[in-house]
Amino acid sequence: MDFKKLIGNAKQIEGFKCRVCPQCNGKACRGEVPGPGGKDSGMAFIRNYDKLNEIKVNLDTIYAPVSVDTSLELFGKPFRYPIFAAPIGGLIPNYGDKHGIDDYHYSKAIIEGCKRAGTIGFTGDGAKDEFYTEPLRVIQENEGWGIPTIKPWKQEEVIKRIELAEKAGVPAVAMDIDAAGLILLAMAGKPVSPKPVEELKEIISATKLPFILKGIMTAKGAEKALETGASGIVVSNHGGRVLDHTPATVEVLPEIVRAVGGKMKILIDGGIRTGLDVLKVLALGADGVLIGRPYVVAAFGGAAEGVELYTNRIGVELEEAMLMTGCGSLQEITSEVIYK
Ligand SMILES: Cc1cc2nc3c(=O)[nH]c(=O)nc-3n(C[C@H](O)[C@H](O)[C@H](O)COP(=O)(O)O)c2cc1C
Repeated sequence: MDFKKLIGNAKQIEGFKCRVCPQCNGKACRGEVPGPGGKDSGMAFIRNYDKLNEIKVNLDTIYAPVSVDTSLELFGKPFRYPIFAAPIGGLIPNYGDKHGIDDYHYSKAIIEGCKRAGTIGFTGDGAKDEFYTEPLRVIQENEGWGIPTIKPWKQEEVIKRIELAEKAGVPAVAMDIDAAGLILLAMAGKPVSPKPVEELKEIISATKLPFILKGIMTAKGAEKALETGASGIVVSNHGGRVLDHTPATVEVLPEIVRAVGGKMKILIDGGIRTGLDVLKVLALGADGVLIGRPYVVAAFGGAAEGVELYTNRIGVELEEAMLMTGCGSLQEITSEVIYK
């Protein structure tokens, strides 16, 4: 399979709510939540994409050739690329019920495809228990190779879910703390809420696993995440799905990097679509990226093979971008790469 075939397949899927646009920029699907879009005006999703595109990079190829190395170690595990699949939950409500791809089948494509490409997939959670347990079943079937992302439920519920993740043998666990206001969950009888530092500390100290807080958008939020004892954060506005008119994730990244001061790992997501985008955010201080919606297209268009193909495609683009900007390793990608 090649990428063109993958896109062709995805476009033909009956009832697929994603339009498979040439550029996944949030314009065609604005306001479609449930669905693949950004909330209300859709501007937070659109801005994530637009602000990344405004950043330009410095080309320089006068240097002694080196072989480009995109590998890294994160939370004690080696990865081929700093590129990970973001958690996507609720496949039927968000992407339609005609195609038969539920949370189990989607996660199977993501977990297996990322594993084959030498990276890892995050999995989601949601209104129904199976949105958490079915992806976890896939992770278990793959020797624990996945990172479950738990919603900010009541304490006992979160701890129960962490225990299930531990049993599955995962290398880390995450919480999308920015799902705190999801009314749809409350309507389904599964309330989520914001959590103070003390409650997060209690959760994080209940596990030996590295804990990642996803949905940090301010320096203050990053400082509070540091206090909780988290090992990492994801700078994320949930792909613009939880609050309209937030800034783009790439806009807040530099102040968050300064606040963290190297004391936690920093991942980022929102509108990252190319290997060059990956280079840009690494140059601004991120350790790695999560990509959301394009992985849905890859999984629908080519299952695990599609996910592997897509990950390698972005990885190779990153390699090219590093070669063209004189970066032999991820550590060499510094702010000098950014055109000021
Ligand atoms: C349909 C859909 C469902 C999502 N479900 C979850 C989820 O269950 N947990 C979570 O942490 N984030 C969830 N997200 C947010 C993504 O993990 C990610 O933050 C976002 O999609 C990144 O932006 P991008 O899609 O522009 O790459 C979801 C996003 C979409 C589009």
